[in-house]
Amino acid sequence: MTPLSNHQDPMRVEQVRAALEKMRAHDLPTHGGRTLAYVYDSGLESADAVGREALASFCSTNGLDPTAFPSLLQMENDLVAVAGNLVDAPDGFAGVATSGGTESILLAVLAARDSQPAIGAPRMVLPTTAHAAFHKAAHYLGVEVVPVAVDPQTKRALPEAMAAAIDDRTVLVVASAPSYAHGVIDPVKPIAAAAAAAGVRCHVDACIGGWVLPYLRASEPHQLPWTFACEGVTSISLDLHKYAYTPKGVSILLHASAELRRTHLFASAAWPGYTMLNTTTQSTKSGGPLAAAWAVVHHIGAERYAELARTARTATIELATAVSDIPGLSLAAQPDSTLLSLMTDDSCDVFTISDEMLTRGWFVQPQMRFADLPATLHLTFSAATARSSGQIARDLAASTTAARTAGPVTVPVELVSAAGGIDPSSLDEPTFDGLLALAGLAGEGGQLALPDRMAPVNALLDALPPALREALLIGFIDRLTRPSTT
Ligand SMILES: Cc1ncc(COP(=O)(O)O)c(C=O)c1O
Repeated sequence: MTPLSNHQDPMRVEQVRAALEKMRAHDLPTHGGRTLAYVYDSGLESADAVGREALASFCSTNGLDPTAFPSLLQMENDLVAVAGNLVDAPDGFAGVATSGGTESILLAVLAARDSQPAIGAPRMVLPTTAHAAFHKAAHYLGVEVVPVAVDPQTKRALPEAMAAAIDDRTVLVVASAPSYAHGVIDPVKPIAAAAAAAGVRCHVDACIGGWVLPYLRASEPHQLPWTFACEGVTSISLDLHKYAYTPKGVSILLHASAELRRTHLFASAAWPGYTMLNTTTQSTKSGGPLAAAWAVVHHIGAERYAELARTARTATIELATAVSDIPGLSLAAQPDSTLLSLMTDDSCDVFTISDEMLTRGWFVQPQMRFADLPATLHLTFSAATARSSGQIARDLAASTTAARTAGPVTVPVELVSAAGGIDPSSLDEPTFDGLLALAGLAGEGGQLALPDRMAPVNALLDALPPALREALLIGFIDRLTRPSTT
């Protein structure tokens, strides 16, 4: 990409606006319901407008010091209270607003780890379907992951296996409500009970379900229980920037008590400057996202959240039903929420379907196989997507037909075996370049070249062991994030 400005000549306001629009032209649409991952669209213009206004108006405030900006403290405590109410938080619970699901998870893991200083090599027990943010937390915080296979049919965690994996080094047990990859709720009740029996904390990751599932309970009384009402649940994460339909940058982490939260609070007086006092990983933090979240949550209100949740859920079920009439495609799991996970038979592959959907104006997310779980297509339903659920079903059918006509992408065996001979733990620059070339991502002069159709690249990644996949992706992001020198 060529630089848009040499930074010497100031740009006029109109030039800045035009340049921003131009850069944005290749982004996925955030509104309109055609992007079924990454973004959440309520379809309510007034909610978007009030969120944008609050975001702009509070963007320069600083959450670093709650006594300097008491408005932010007030809004944070209020949102924590609203969230606590949604998930049956007990008296005396405490919480924080973070920048997103990953930060909430990092802090839950940190709090668990540091509550057990005597455990030298801490572990956490995760279903294999737990979000990758737990692996990031493990990596950052030196906590070993003990992965536990899930039920191959339902894709739900297996409570007995989870219980059996707990030992005297376990500091945290995790369950999802629902899991991102398959959209199913883990059996939290027995998992949390097993954690409590062992005296171990249990975190429920409701980052994506926290603002949907509570609103569906009235119409779906058989929803698996997953809140603090399950004995032994010690913390829950729920993101506002997902199904609360707020601008990006806010999640809530709740703890069953203030004491459980204490080990992720941080103060430092070990320098001559201001006393640093933080509840989250950020120190200076814009009050914009928090104010926007407060504005949107209160503008939409409980009744309309319930309607939005039911709208998205109905569309999810409708598409799940339509999939049974699409030859080659099936559900990877019965959806418990507003996420769909689809898989193919041998006549085609999810990567080609994803490309085909993109040509029809839909972004659906390909997910690689992992352990004995097949590659899948992920669809997150926003309320705005629900408006076009008939069209998405027709386009999914047409895309699958096209993928079946093309046949599954084949990955040359030589390519997989050449890549398989590489040791991902000792990669240098030339090896990275070689890997990227193998994957068909190398352009001229060491630049990256993204093909129009990603299926061949995704199919190769899918065929590689996860450690090598990770290495290739690191090489990719490393090359992608270098400034242009032209
Ligand atoms: C279940 C779950 N947990 C955690 C996360 C991570 O959230 P974020 O991307 O806001 O960091 C996600 C994101 O999709 C999620 O679905």
